[in-house]
Amino acid sequence: MKLDRPTAGPQPQMRDILQGHRPRRLRQNDWTRRLVRETTLTVDDLIWPIFVIDGEGVREPVPTMPGVNRLSMDQVVRDVEKAASLGIPAIALFPYTDNDLRDPTGSEALNDQNLVCRTVRAIKAAVPGIGVVTDVALDPYTSHGHDGLMSGDEILNDASVTQLCGQALVQAEAGADVIAPSDMMDGRIGAIRAVLDDAGFEHVQIMSYAAKYASAFYGPFRDAIGSNAALKGDKRTYQMDPGNAAEALREVELDLAEAADMVMVKPGMPYLDIICRVKEAFRVPTFAYQVSGEYAMLEGAARNGWLDGDRVMMESLQSFKRAGADGVLTYFAVRAAERLRADRS
Ligand code: PBG
Repeated sequence: MKLDRPTAGPQPQMRDILQGHRPRRLRQNDWTRRLVRETTLTVDDLIWPIFVIDGEGVREPVPTMPGVNRLSMDQVVRDVEKAASLGIPAIALFPYTDNDLRDPTGSEALNDQNLVCRTVRAIKAAVPGIGVVTDVALDPYTSHGHDGLMSGDEILNDASVTQLCGQALVQAEAGADVIAPSDMMDGRIGAIRAVLDDAGFEHVQIMSYAAKYASAFYGPFRDAIGSNAALKGDKRTYQMDPGNAAEALREVELDLAEAADMVMVKPGMPYLDIICRVKEAFRVPTFAYQVSGEYAMLEGAARNGWLDGDRVMMESLQSFKRAGADGVLTYFAVRAAERLRADRS
């Protein structure tokens, strides 16, 4: 490191000020920076969310998520093979559902031949080594677009939980490794655990969307699964208020008491403080979901030439690790994995 040359005029007494301390010493070149780096993103930290659609040979772009497609089952299998070859540990499935398969109770969720169940079987047959995460919530299947059952304007809690247990069961039977309830009904983790155990699925993991906020960052996702047009009202009576942090700890505590194996905070970047607090308080496997709106924000700006896409992708993912997350659900998973591989070679 070059020290600044003296210039004319009065000099501040740098020796006295610094007392020997120069934090820049450890930043002066790449090898030092690598040596003292506190957190590192690796491919092992990535979970890739995939949108599935009926049909064959379909790769249909999601307009509000440039670079993301809805994929038919055959294409999912192809892409999951690629993800596995890159070393991505797990993928998460989300179905696009046409209006004619939607009804007020989301009954398609309980159909053991529904698109998600068929896709899980196909992936498990073709790529047995990758973890498959399935979403438990009724919103892909309800005509009103809510995650639970409705009576008038009310989202019913306990009746929804019964329906969600049935959904979790058909997913486990199809071969899902991780059941991920994203519905935010009270008591659903314990109820699903009991139903899974009774059916002999003690080994199936539960990743709880424990602190899920009522966020406007989910907009593009709702386009992707076709529930934006359907959604009546908002989800504020079950998803959390963005102003709350202590409540997130309580949600996580309850879900862990109900035997959740892993917990999630969602969205990601606007809620890094929550990830940090959850990890510090409970020290359990904690995940962040970099949601559709976050992806759209970064990728939209990059495609306009306003941001360096690759760099903001890697920086945003690293920030989750620094905050304490063990892993990240991200639509960038494949690109980030490719980038990590290129950086290594
Ligand atoms: C629904 C669900 C949502 C997401 C995952 N599961 C949206 C919502 O709650 O409306 C959002 C994911 C994203 O925005 O990428 N149960």
